[in-house]
Amino acid sequence: MQTARISFDSFNTLQDEACHQRIKAARAKLGQRAVLLCHHYQRADIYQYADLTGDSLRLSRLASQTDAEFIVFCGVHFMAEVADIMTKPHQKAILPDLAAGCSMADMASLAKVERCWRELNEVLNADEVITPVTYINSAADLKAFCGEHGGIVCTSSNAGTIAQWAFKQREKILFFPDQHLGRWTGHTMGIPLDEMMVWDPDLEMGGLTADEIRKAKILLWKGHCSVHQMFQPAHILKFRNQHPDGLVISHPECSFEVCKQSDFVGSTELIVKVIKDAKPGTHWLVGTELNLVNRLAEEVKPEGKIVQFMSPTVCMCSTMQRIDPQHLAWTLENLAEGNIVNQIKVPEHEAALAKLTVERMLAVS
Ligand code: 13P
Ligand code: SF4
Repeated sequence: MQTARISFDSFNTLQDEACHQRIKAARAKLGQRAVLLCHHYQRADIYQYADLTGDSLRLSRLASQTDAEFIVFCGVHFMAEVADIMTKPHQKAILPDLAAGCSMADMASLAKVERCWRELNEVLNADEVITPVTYINSAADLKAFCGEHGGIVCTSSNAGTIAQWAFKQREKILFFPDQHLGRWTGHTMGIPLDEMMVWDPDLEMGGLTADEIRKAKILLWKGHCSVHQMFQPAHILKFRNQHPDGLVISHPECSFEVCKQSDFVGSTELIVKVIKDAKPGTHWLVGTELNLVNRLAEEVKPEGKIVQFMSPTVCMCSTMQRIDPQHLAWTLENLAEGNIVNQIKVPEHEAALAKLTVERMLAVS
């Protein structure tokens, strides 16, 4: 039975402890009807409630496999969109705070990507020679764009496999919105740096000449993650000087120089796995978001492993951080009372094309 929607006002000032009691009560009331999916970057006071956790690839698979009525996504907007795209019509993807976006995803819009495609068409036949590849950190309409133009989605854990697939279709790739993941992926495939050109969406023809466009194997959209850009090669150098036996692991959203100087590069899921599987007593420097690094450090401490954050300054994903106990309690209470709040719904025509590209990705990877 539906009651009047509960306003967020009273939750805004609710103490964390009270929120936790109300989260537990609402979850008990919802039972199997709600499943909580949590990205690795979620804060500890939310992560403790996760039914399912993972990186973007794992979470998109899990979203497609759950049968719960409500998929409460503790992550960011594009992740909840993927959950909506991949679930059945009776299921609803819920994002506890609608302001939890991804600043990198916002660096590419459909209008700018369409303009880029038009401009590329002035130099070459884009639909014949370029496969558009969008990182999963992008809006659903960009995934739909890729669906419409023979392209595909990738995540940080399958970008290499997806790029190989993309090159089998056509000779070039337009990769958006993260230039760093695109560059690192191209580098691991042996593509020279001068055949990976940055496309600046704010400049005419991306700031490139026709010859540069013709020469490029990969066109890299000028986008980045504001969290991962904080990590610098100097941080790695200092660590190596102080701990010559230490090991360095970074997320591929870090700059090329950081990735190049790391011992391992991979998705959040890979970072967790490599450090958990490492020998006791090892010392790690990790280039990814702080909530994950802190959690991992605590988990492996009993085995004598030391896990250290790469940057001397705090850098969290401020948008992930927005999902707090207040928003989760408010969301779950409303759902338990029959009020659907903060539903993420991708328009049908976009969802169908976007689903095609996500399914293509899941089949390839
Ligand atoms: P993962 O897919 O590796 O979890 O990365 C998602 C993300 O947004 C990293 O910043
Ligand atoms: Fe987006 Fe960066 Fe946050 Fe990942 S860490 S969700 S890429 S802003």
